Amino acid sequence: MRKIFIDACFGKETPYTPVWMMRQAGRYLPEYMEVRRKVGNFLDMTRNPEVVAEVTIQPIEILDVDAAILFSDILNLPMEMGLPLKFEKGVGPVFEKTISSEEDIDALDPKADEKIAYVYEGVRKIKERLPENKALIGFAGSPWTISTYMVEGRGSKQYAKIKKMVYANPMMLHRLLSFNTNETIEYLSKQIEAGADAVMIFDSWGGALEKEKFFEFSWNYMKEIARNIKEKYPNVPVIGFSKGVGLYMSEMDGEFDVIGVDWNTPMDYALGIFKDNYTLQGNMDPTRLYSKSATKEAVENIANIMNGHRHIFNLGHGILPDVPVENAKFFVDYAKEYSRKLRERK
Ligand code: CP3
Repeated sequence: MRKIFIDACFGKETPYTPVWMMRQAGRYLPEYMEVRRKVGNFLDMTRNPEVVAEVTIQPIEILDVDAAILFSDILNLPMEMGLPLKFEKGVGPVFEKTISSEEDIDALDPKADEKIAYVYEGVRKIKERLPENKALIGFAGSPWTISTYMVEGRGSKQYAKIKKMVYANPMMLHRLLSFNTNETIEYLSKQIEAGADAVMIFDSWGGALEKEKFFEFSWNYMKEIARNIKEKYPNVPVIGFSKGVGLYMSEMDGEFDVIGVDWNTPMDYALGIFKDNYTLQGNMDPTRLYSKSATKEAVENIANIMNGHRHIFNLGHGILPDVPVENAKFFVDYAKEYSRKLRERK
């Protein structure tokens, strides 16, 4: 059976523009909160394949999105490399042990992609339950973005420690990025072997770098991952998403099928650069979900710009925990309805 999401990734015609939301399995859903209360905490949820499957499927059943995204986190992989991880209330993810020397890199476990087998088991369980017309997106963090957490230890405003490496010890940082790249290629390959229909690379902090450094330390490694995955799995779409780099887009290329567009980057600007060489995914400001009329306005704007072009509807970053489910449902329904109408008008 055809999957509308996968067809759209490859630029094939679809009856409407498929839609899903970053962080769609999350705290805004009461059903998610109930599972989280039962399991106790987020990390334990990600390590339990049954729970992973249940929570991944929730937005499919509740919102009827066209793709499910594996419930996990980009930081599970560095955790399995040997950096204990915890999520602190009000702080977010924290690594107590961080990377600051060559010895720290030597100590990273190159078998992380095997230790993380609970993710592959989760993928298999999801696929047993996922309707055939829906796609499952596997994912990983970009080598740069996971490195920011491995070096800084937590989310950061200045990125002073890792940017000190960029300028004062670039060879060491390249070693860390190469290590992460190799692990990520293995990690995504194994997700695909387990049944993931597409894979996405999240580069949330690419925008912390100036242009030339962004290509050197982030995008080039993402391209290497995409090249390796496409070589092995030409029928599996690869989605690249770097946040905060709209102004660098004219030089972004690579063997991606889909490029994610964040909400700071006007869709017509991104389309002007990428044309129909890639499917563009995005890019409604997630805070518009607080208002149905603001959501309606953005859906129409984005759909009108992308009319006749390769597009997947999404938010320009993750959904926030206090968004009403009803509004998220409105976004999904209206994106499909309006894009269907535009096609019928032609
Ligand atoms: O999109 C999805 O629904 C799939 C699952 C997913 C999560 N994290 C679950 C999660 C995905 C794809 C991610 C990616 C991720 N994780 C990124 C890249 C995307 C982005 O948002 O920029 C980053 C930077 C992280 C790291 C991370 N994980 C942070 C900074 C936080 C804390 C902030 C927060 O929202 O609480 C997390 C926790 C996290 N990851 C939650 C979920 C559902 C919240 C956990 C909970 O409290 O239940």
